Amino acid sequence: MAMATTPHSLLLQNPTQPHHQLPKTSIFKPFNAFSRFTIPNRRISISCAATSTQIQDRPPLPAHSQERLFNFAAGPAILPENVLLKAQSELYNYRGSGMSVMEMSHRGKEFLSIIQKAESDLRTLLEIPDEYAVLFLQGGATTQFAAIPLNLCSPSDPVDFLVTGSWGDKAIKEAKKYCNPNLIWSGKSEKYTKIPTFEGLEQNPDAKYLHICANETIHGVEFKNYPTPQNSTGILVADMSSNFCSKPVDVSKFGVIYAGAQKNVGPSGVTIVIIRKDLIGNAQEQTPVMLDYKIHAENNSLYNTPPCYGIYMCGLVFEDLLEQGGLKEVEKKNQKKAEILYNAIDESNGFFRCPVEKSVRSLMNVPFTLEKSELEGEFVKEAAKEKMVQLKGHRSVGGMRASIYNAMPLAGVEKLVAFMKDFQAKHA
Ligand SMILES: Cc1ncc(COP(=O)(O)O)c(C=O)c1O
Repeated sequence: MAMATTPHSLLLQNPTQPHHQLPKTSIFKPFNAFSRFTIPNRRISISCAATSTQIQDRPPLPAHSQERLFNFAAGPAILPENVLLKAQSELYNYRGSGMSVMEMSHRGKEFLSIIQKAESDLRTLLEIPDEYAVLFLQGGATTQFAAIPLNLCSPSDPVDFLVTGSWGDKAIKEAKKYCNPNLIWSGKSEKYTKIPTFEGLEQNPDAKYLHICANETIHGVEFKNYPTPQNSTGILVADMSSNFCSKPVDVSKFGVIYAGAQKNVGPSGVTIVIIRKDLIGNAQEQTPVMLDYKIHAENNSLYNTPPCYGIYMCGLVFEDLLEQGGLKEVEKKNQKKAEILYNAIDESNGFFRCPVEKSVRSLMNVPFTLEKSELEGEFVKEAAKEKMVQLKGHRSVGGMRASIYNAMPLAGVEKLVAFMKDFQAKHA
């Protein structure tokens, strides 16, 4: 069937055209009328540039990309434009299957190949050893705050927590219901602006694991290396929700890595758990079936209906990251973006301030304040007028926060920096 006659192809020709403006005759064709047309499975690679700068080695963007905002939200967060466009092109009729991924059986061959490819690409990206299982789960990282102690220890077992921000704090509070956690260090008294040196930490030799949050999304504090667990099991557990796939990680150093997808790798609704296989199978008796890693591992994440569309989107993001050259390349881009933003803050003569100690500043979430705090509301409002949104800091800390995940183009950060300089010139 000629593509030009289908609603899908009309959308492809003009993806920004609202559905209601498409010719009615083509929109309301019966389902079997377009069950045969196939969309060529070709990659659409488009960069986003609001300035004249060429960013991230991608070809120039089409006109409709100009209408998108630079979204600095902490999560759900910006996704790569080419991934969104690819998803759009496959939304209506996934690769000739006659239906969208949202409609298909999670046990059918199309979806099985989607989830298997997503897992295999993630394994390639993070060089995940065979001794580790990869699980695609639901319930957010918050559910893992309970699932981890339920799976790794009995109620009386001690575990160690190193708390460097609000998410680590939430994790320890939840763990208290299922084990016996011990706070070995907290950055709370210093407003979560630091990470301690590991040598002085007093770890419990009987602890079942040591838990860290690799990147504290609210406070912008990121581990640049990892503590070695001094406990008998040697297990390190990390919440990597907000820096997952932002740089290479030596997975073999961890017992468990977990991450909500909605910052760097997909939409909300998917939680990824990477767990050493020998740690699976010891869940506490009362563990709900949905929190038992053994059940999910035995069923290849298909024990119940998984978040199919979210997993598909994660798969597209993994493909995109591989096509960019893998996580080493991605890290370089992230370093560059973070460097120009932190430099702009540090070189503002105190007009802007980042409270986080320099050596542990996050590449992903950049919190900053204004010396004249009364101008913060105006900063956020004026930035939004310039199509830079979601710059307000988390309600618990105030100020501003720019989340500059993988999908934020360099042009977005350059535009923010230019805006900050203008704002300072106006208000200094
Ligand atoms: C580091 C970190 N851990 C955990 C969470 C909670 O994730 P979820 O809302 O997916 O449960 C978040 C959410 O922003 C986070 O940033």
